[in-house]
Amino acid sequence: MTQRATIPLVDIPIDSLLNNEAAVKGSLVLVTGGASGFGRLLAVQLAKAGASLFLVDLNEVALAALVAEIKGNGGSAASASADVTSTDAQRSAFEACVKVFGRAPDIVYANAGVNGNDNFEEDDGGDAPKPWRDLTFKINFRGMVITSALAQEYWAKSPAKAPRRLVFTASMGGINGIPAGSCYAASKHATLGIWKGLADDLAAGKLSGFTVHAVCPFFAATGILPAAVRFFLAGVPLVAVPTVSNALVYIAAGSKELGNDGAILLPDAGKPTILRAKDYDPLVQEFTDALDSRIARESSNVAAGSWGQWFSDVTNIFNRTAAAA
Ligand SMILES: NC(=O)c1ccc[n+]([C@@H]2O[C@H](COP(=O)([O-])OP(=O)(O)OC[C@H]3O[C@@H](n4cnc5c(N)ncnc54)[C@H](O)[C@@H]3O)[C@@H](O)[C@H]2O)c1
Repeated sequence: MTQRATIPLVDIPIDSLLNNEAAVKGSLVLVTGGASGFGRLLAVQLAKAGASLFLVDLNEVALAALVAEIKGNGGSAASASADVTSTDAQRSAFEACVKVFGRAPDIVYANAGVNGNDNFEEDDGGDAPKPWRDLTFKINFRGMVITSALAQEYWAKSPAKAPRRLVFTASMGGINGIPAGSCYAASKHATLGIWKGLADDLAAGKLSGFTVHAVCPFFAATGILPAAVRFFLAGVPLVAVPTVSNALVYIAAGSKELGNDGAILLPDAGKPTILRAKDYDPLVQEFTDALDSRIARESSNVAAGSWGQWFSDVTNIFNRTAAAA
């Protein structure tokens, strides 16, 4: 087995997250789930730094209040109410953004998410498992896939005016898992799968014209955290909500350390750290190395002369095909 490589952590001091925020001046930014929590603070901070905001959320009342607040402070913002699980609704939101600002957004945050009570392991204790309520996956995964696809579709239709970035709000649960939160954690693993897939396609030159990023916060005290979870976490230092939103601003501003595909991990109340897409694989390298050597041994069985097994397998295939005919 090969030695697992140690990946040096590239930490970002919390108080330097906004150092380069002036770089977002003039950018047009679309944020899903922009009416509260991380999305709301992100919008306020970006507007202060001179970006224009297009906010998408289910919560119309909170959207209207936030747009009024940003405009009241001299910023530029508009919004559309949309359910991110619907392609049509998100397309209407992108259309509205183009109508209001005259162009596609430069930076798109796929951020809307829920912490639904849809865990795989929950059933009613009876004979039949309870049907899985998959709303968490629909919002946290399907919603983000739709946002990602629409961003790329709108970018393909128009020339870039500013750096284009696609940003997914994942979670540390998408790396470590979450006790009693299997569905949520799985949805965030899936989110990181989109990030990694797009990053690989960009690196291979199959996609171009934008950068792709993710943030992975540990628990933070937003509306998504139910009282029961807060009780469970009592005494544990959570990530400060502004640290997460400032990490999202850091991504919008771009940096050498972040490159074209950096994700920001916020694994505790301390410094955020950068994970590049190429380093996402070695996290499981030791396992895949072990698996590779096992696969090589198994497939060498035929070469080693186990033709009896080969003959028996092929005979079975012929017999089954004949019986089915
Ligand atoms: N707070 C945490 O502990 C934490 C940790 C890791 C990741 N996250 C992720 O951060 C993101 C933002 O969450 P938050 O913590 O700011 O919570 P939040 O509840 O304050 O914000 C989420 C927003 O998404 C909106 N939303 C929910 N379903 C929607 C839908 N179907 N269509 C459109 N909008 C919808 C909500 O109305 C809300 O405004 C989520 O993806 C969440 O999973 C949160």
